[in-house]
Amino acid sequence: MTAPAHTRSSAELIEAEEPVLAHNYHPLPVVVARAEGTWVEDVEGRRYLDMLAGYSALNFGHRHPALVEAAHRQLDQLTLTSRAFHNDRLAEFAERLAELTGLDMVLPMNTGAEAVESGIKVARKWAYDVKGVPTDQATIVVAADNFHGRTTTIVSFSTDETARAGFGPFTPGFRIVPYNDLAALEAAVDETTAAVLIEPIQGEAGVMIPDDGYLTGVRELTRRAGCLFVADEIQSGLGRTGRTLAVDHEDVVPDVLLLGKALGGGIVPVSAVVARREVMSVLRPGEHGSTFGGNPLAAAVGTAVVELLEGGEFQRRAAESGVILRDGLAELVGRGVVGFRSRGLWAGVDVDPAIGTGREISERLMREGVLVKDTHGSTIRLAPPLTITAEELRSALGSLEKVLTA
Ligand SMILES: Cc1ncc(COP(=O)(O)O)c(C=O)c1O
Repeated sequence: MTAPAHTRSSAELIEAEEPVLAHNYHPLPVVVARAEGTWVEDVEGRRYLDMLAGYSALNFGHRHPALVEAAHRQLDQLTLTSRAFHNDRLAEFAERLAELTGLDMVLPMNTGAEAVESGIKVARKWAYDVKGVPTDQATIVVAADNFHGRTTTIVSFSTDETARAGFGPFTPGFRIVPYNDLAALEAAVDETTAAVLIEPIQGEAGVMIPDDGYLTGVRELTRRAGCLFVADEIQSGLGRTGRTLAVDHEDVVPDVLLLGKALGGGIVPVSAVVARREVMSVLRPGEHGSTFGGNPLAAAVGTAVVELLEGGEFQRRAAESGVILRDGLAELVGRGVVGFRSRGLWAGVDVDPAIGTGREISERLMREGVLVKDTHGSTIRLAPPLTITAEELRSALGSLEKVLTA
């Protein structure tokens, strides 16, 4: 990595943001200027191990050569057509993504929230056209402590007051039940239910992993009740947990799958709704769309991402390195860690609040050259690129130990 000549220091750049940038984030005080693989470098040339990976948008690391090459190649050919015309990259992207996920049809979008919104629209349309729910009566059952994005409809069924307060009026048609509670789900589902929409692992809630059998239970329950199972794998999917999808751990195939983040390889925003043919077929021309969804640059990068996952190497690495992560965290229980949950290269770590808030721990780790993000209270989340080496992972765990036991 060669350092560009910056005229302003990190501190000056942070200060310059304050009056001109919306205050909807509270970033750690690090200004990243360059990155490669698992490492990022700030304006002054300090290096940090990236243990967040863009909230799993960087599953393959920063600037993975195959993804950068696919993007460069496409930049020299064609970048945007809109869906008013066909483009020569979209068919292959859809074919290979459908094949990878075991589903039939792809609706390409851009951000995760758009995929969720699109999934909600598909589920409602299916409820009216196929299930026969009376007009405007369709309901969708969701889980408490969910995180599905930031649009007005999505925050309508959030249980996080910070995400909701001040943004009403809210969209009706959602029922909220406790996560990981099949009995509550069963009680909430009725003849108006279009879908059950859940995260197979709740990431933002602190990497909350449901009991074994929950996802199988959701699959059986939705099938019995005649409604759709919509799995939001925007953060949990694409290798993160050691399998292609988190639902693969229970060999469950949902009716509708929502993907995003890593689908764009950390280069461009790419998301998708992937569904069974009879579900996706409810959409007719003009009923839904996106200027950028399915653009050739996104399709080229997305295809390269799917190609990386087809080989299985990244899933394997996540599973293998996940053992190092789990064992390393287990050794810290009682030594600053009060509990943790992990699957593959993804962990939510509850730190003893006496040691510090998640934010304070994140800042101390930053000073040790490790970037993480807090979620709620004293919980931090670890989600390094799946390309992280055993040595790098042990080094990050060593920094965490140092911070917790200092
Ligand atoms: C499970 C889940 N769904 C949806 C989203 C929203 O994605 P985006 O920020 O790309 O809109 C996120 C983002 O963190 C997520 O974790």
